[in-house]
Amino acid sequence: MKAIVQTRYGSPDYLEVRDLDTPAIAPDQVLVRVHASSVNPAEWYRVMGPIFARVAEGLRKPKRALIGGDLSGRIEAVGSDVREFEPGDEVFGTSGAAWAELAPAREARLVRKPANLSFEEAAAVPIAALTALQALRDHGNFQPGQKVLINGASGGVGTFAVQIAKALEADVTAVCSTPNVELARSLGADRVIDYSQSDFTHCGVRHELMIDIAGSRPFSHCRRALTHDATLVVVGAKMSARGLGPIRHLIRKRLASVGRSQTVAFFVAKIEKDDLLVLQELLAAGKVRPVIDRRFELSRVADALRYLGEGHARGKVVLTV
Ligand SMILES: NC(=O)c1ccc[n+]([C@@H]2O[C@H](COP(=O)([O-])OP(=O)(O)OC[C@H]3O[C@@H](n4cnc5c(N)ncnc54)[C@H](OP(=O)(O)O)[C@@H]3O)[C@@H](O)[C@H]2O)c1
Repeated sequence: MKAIVQTRYGSPDYLEVRDLDTPAIAPDQVLVRVHASSVNPAEWYRVMGPIFARVAEGLRKPKRALIGGDLSGRIEAVGSDVREFEPGDEVFGTSGAAWAELAPAREARLVRKPANLSFEEAAAVPIAALTALQALRDHGNFQPGQKVLINGASGGVGTFAVQIAKALEADVTAVCSTPNVELARSLGADRVIDYSQSDFTHCGVRHELMIDIAGSRPFSHCRRALTHDATLVVVGAKMSARGLGPIRHLIRKRLASVGRSQTVAFFVAKIEKDDLLVLQELLAAGKVRPVIDRRFELSRVADALRYLGEGHARGKVVLTV
C-alpha cells in the first residue's frame, strides 16, 4: 500500500510516497481503507519542525515516519477486541497514520459516517470540528443565547465554529476577509465583520465569548468587544515555524489577562468519541456542513500543506486517496 512518509523536518518537499506493507492492527484497532483525509495546522507544524513541535515529535527527526490525522473510509479488518464495527462499515475519525491507502485506527477514535456526507466531507470534520466544539462548549462555558465573536471564521476551525455556535443557539459575530463575507453569512453568522474594512474591536457589540482562531489582535484590543466577565478562548495564531511560533502569542495573551475581569483560556483539542458522536448527529441533521476549499490527491500532500501554510484556506483542504 502507498503511504506518505516523513523522515526529516523542514519542508513539505521532504515528504515521500512509499510502498509499504499492510499495517498490523492491535486488538482495539481496525484497519481502514482510506478514501479521504485532510490537512491540519498540527501536521504543518510536524512537517516544518519548529522547536516546540520537536519536543513532542522527536528532536532530530520524527520518531514516527507515518503521519496524518483525519480520515474517512471503509473498514477492511477489525482487531479481536473490536465490538462496534465490522468490515465494510463506512467511518470517519482519526488515526496517527491517515495519509495512506490503509490506516490503523482505534475503535475509540472512529464513528460511522452519516449517509448524507461524502467521504471527502467526512474527512474534513474530525480535528477542526472537535476543536470548534470543545472551544465553545468546554473551554468557553457557552450558554445558549450568548453573543459569540469568532475571529478567523472562514478557515478550517472557523467554518465549523460558526455553524456549531449557531446550532448551540448563539448570536454569532464572524470576522473574516472580504472574499469570505458571503460564506460566513451563509453559515449562519448574525453579523459579519470584514477585517480589511473595519475593526471588530470597535464594532459596538459586547460579546460574552470570543473564540480567537486567527490571533490577529492583542488582548487589550479584544477587550473592547467583550463583556466585563467574558471568556476569550485562544485556539490558534498565525502559523509560523520560527522560534516559539504560536506559543509566544498564547503566553502574551495569557499574561495580558492577569488582573483583568475577563478570562483567557487555552487548550489543545482532544479526540473524544463522545464528541465525534455529537458531531455525527449535527452532520446527520444537516445543522453542520463541512466547507471544502481545495482537494489534492494524496501524492500532492506537499502542495496541500504549502497552501494551508499560506494561512488563507476557505474551509478545509482535503486529500483524496
Ligand atoms: N488549540 C487546538 O487544539 C487547535 C486545533 C486546531 C487548530 N488550531 C489552530 O487554529 C488556527 C487555525 O486553524 P485552521 O485549521 O482553522 O487554519 P486555516 O484553515 O488555515 O484558517 C485560518 C483562517 O484565518 C483567517 N485569518 C487570517 N488572518 C486573519 C485576520 N487578520 N483576521 C481574521 N481572520 C484571519 C483566514 O481567513 P482569511 O483568508 O479571510 O484571512 C483563514 O480562514 C491555527 O493557528 C491552528 O494551529 C488549534
